Amino acid sequence: MSTTQYLTKDEVGILLTAAAHAPSMHNAQPWRFDIQDSVIDVLRDAERTLPAADPAGRMTCVGLGAAAFNLRVAAALLGHETTLAFEPDPAVPAVAVRVFLAERRVPVPGLSSLYSEVGRRHTYRGPMLDTPVPPEARQRLTAAAQAEGAQLHWLDGHQRTELSRILGIANERDVHDEDRLHERMHWIGGERDGDGVPDTALGPRAEAPAAVRDLGAGFDRADRGSAVFERKPAIAVLTTVAEDSHAWIRAGLALQHVLLTASSYDLGTSFLNQALEYADLRDEVRQLTGHTTWPQLIIRCGYPAHSSDHAPRRPWQATLGEWH
Ligand SMILES: Cc1cc2nc3c(=O)[nH]c(=O)nc-3n(C[C@H](O)[C@H](O)[C@H](O)COP(=O)(O)O)c2cc1C
Repeated sequence: MSTTQYLTKDEVGILLTAAAHAPSMHNAQPWRFDIQDSVIDVLRDAERTLPAADPAGRMTCVGLGAAAFNLRVAAALLGHETTLAFEPDPAVPAVAVRVFLAERRVPVPGLSSLYSEVGRRHTYRGPMLDTPVPPEARQRLTAAAQAEGAQLHWLDGHQRTELSRILGIANERDVHDEDRLHERMHWIGGERDGDGVPDTALGPRAEAPAAVRDLGAGFDRADRGSAVFERKPAIAVLTTVAEDSHAWIRAGLALQHVLLTASSYDLGTSFLNQALEYADLRDEVRQLTGHTTWPQLIIRCGYPAHSSDHAPRRPWQATLGEWH
């Protein structure tokens, strides 16, 4: 590591700590970062992919897009406007996003106001209160997805019922797929230091079929608690018009914009992505949201009934590659 005239070490720490707070499937944190003056590359870390659950690398791209969004938010706090290039260099395919920091000015309104949510947001897998998500918050979350070129579809009662059926099939497959089960056992459960999902972040087991994803299913601790989940979960499907790696990265940016906005309303969020990890089931979800767009994430949203633990992160220094 060397010093640079453009960013101080403290600024690099602020930027990369924010990036690392992004969500990623199984908290694998599939990223590393190279910095050249005012340009930050978000790179895929091939050691941190999930070949069983994510053979195409779609979820990895979503995580990288989310990390890039957090970089933008932290850069905005430091006074930098940002522009992005997706997969800018065919000669270096590991670079998923290149973030260009503009000349320093004053804190960038809008994005910088989300900075306080970066460390607060986390995945909440417990039951929600029955208090509905206010229409204004729904509209703001929808606008957050649109701002990044994605869409958010809120499910009505009929669509929720259909999704429950699809989730039931996915849950059943999940516990019988040995490769996925082994992969989850590698990343999930127990005490965790730096990555993975610890027991304390798994939330309780659902006492009746519910709109949750039980990441511990199939290898669970006997002493884990159980709970009754909300009857009418607020569920939104985040979609993109295209279906390629650029669209997946874009979905990650949109996801993080939505999640940070939700956190600013004190809303908790979790994922029901098991329904999108099997091509035939994903197609059924696609029919639910109108055929024309591609479902990338299924988000459950509400006011948490309890508090829950955060999943750990590696220190930012461990994610920094080259710095010139
Ligand atoms: C693309 C993607 C898919 C995810 N899928 C699920 C999921 O199906 N179920 C779940 O409980 N969490 C899911 N997560 C959440 C991650 O487990 C979570 O982000 C990670 O453990 C880090 O924890 P945090 O979000 O609390 O910071 C997903 C996250 C991403 C980015």
